[in-house]
Amino acid sequence: MDLMKQLLDVVNQAKEVFKAVKNGAELQDKKAEFLGKKGIVSTYMSQMKDLPNEDKPKFGQMINEIKTLISLEFDEAKSRLDDEAIKRKLIEEAVDVTLPGRSMTPGSKHVLNRVIEEIEDIFLGMGYSIKEGPEVESDLYNFEMLNLPKSHPARDMQDSFYITEDLLLRTHTSPVQVRSLLENTKKEPLKIICPGKVYRRDDDDQTHSHQFMQIEALVVDYKANLSDLKGTLLELARKMFGEERQIRLRPSYFPFTEPSVEVDVTCHKCNGKGCSMCKGSGWIEILGAGMVNNAVLEASGYDSTIYQGFALGMGVERIAILKYGIDDIRALYTNDLRFNHQWK
Ligand code: DAH
Repeated sequence: MDLMKQLLDVVNQAKEVFKAVKNGAELQDKKAEFLGKKGIVSTYMSQMKDLPNEDKPKFGQMINEIKTLISLEFDEAKSRLDDEAIKRKLIEEAVDVTLPGRSMTPGSKHVLNRVIEEIEDIFLGMGYSIKEGPEVESDLYNFEMLNLPKSHPARDMQDSFYITEDLLLRTHTSPVQVRSLLENTKKEPLKIICPGKVYRRDDDDQTHSHQFMQIEALVVDYKANLSDLKGTLLELARKMFGEERQIRLRPSYFPFTEPSVEVDVTCHKCNGKGCSMCKGSGWIEILGAGMVNNAVLEASGYDSTIYQGFALGMGVERIAILKYGIDDIRALYTNDLRFNHQWK
């Protein structure tokens, strides 16, 4: 039949048209031109009404076959375009794995945190646990219960930021001692360190800061004595400043300890010979310590005829300055990354 030939021609035409198409949208348009409601195939379909009735089913069948053939051409063109799109994408998005990466500057631990962690590790290694307390503290815990009543002249040693008459920014970490002793309702032995920020009304300069950090240590049990304290201090000094370090204790005064000592360590820079770091003496003062004053134990409900203990308190900045040779305490707070990255 002539018509059949014409229709097969339409299929070939569709095939050629689909082949030339460059993208999916265009392909859809072209498909509509052949198979759409107003497309070429429909135009043939509309001729059906003019045919004799007996030819109609055959014609209908023929049209359906043509539709199927065009659809197959469409599918083929579609999968060709899809393949091309994937290939294009692979080329466009190719990554050159040999290119050098963009460098990122990782942060580094602040030197104060580094020192705190070093000190914490030393004490954790000796079986201490870590306690923290509030920075806004009551006069009662910061002074009174540490054997520093209102009129006590030693209060002047720690010029304070008062918030109300009874509240202040803690001047030392020693109130955490009081809190821990009070908290311990069974009055059992205790072995803690308390790191944290403290505040004093100082004018900031090369060696002073109105806010700094301390670490306190407290041991209370039935027989902790001065030689235990000495052993602890020696361990701390050697782990912190080197195994050859020696320590010496000088008598001192703190209201919360009796007897009290000031602790010196042999200079780690000149090994005790005398240099600029130790101002020629060979010794460097690192902290204060002593046997816990009975008055402190009693105030917190510990029977001082049964319990005894020792305590020590150190300034973290001072340790950092000594250990890392920092010449200005303010460098620890001004957040100059070049300063901090030195110890990466
Ligand atoms: N609290 C003292 C201060 O800030 C430091 C100190 C000295 C703490 C002796 C202690 C200690 O626990 O026994 O100056």
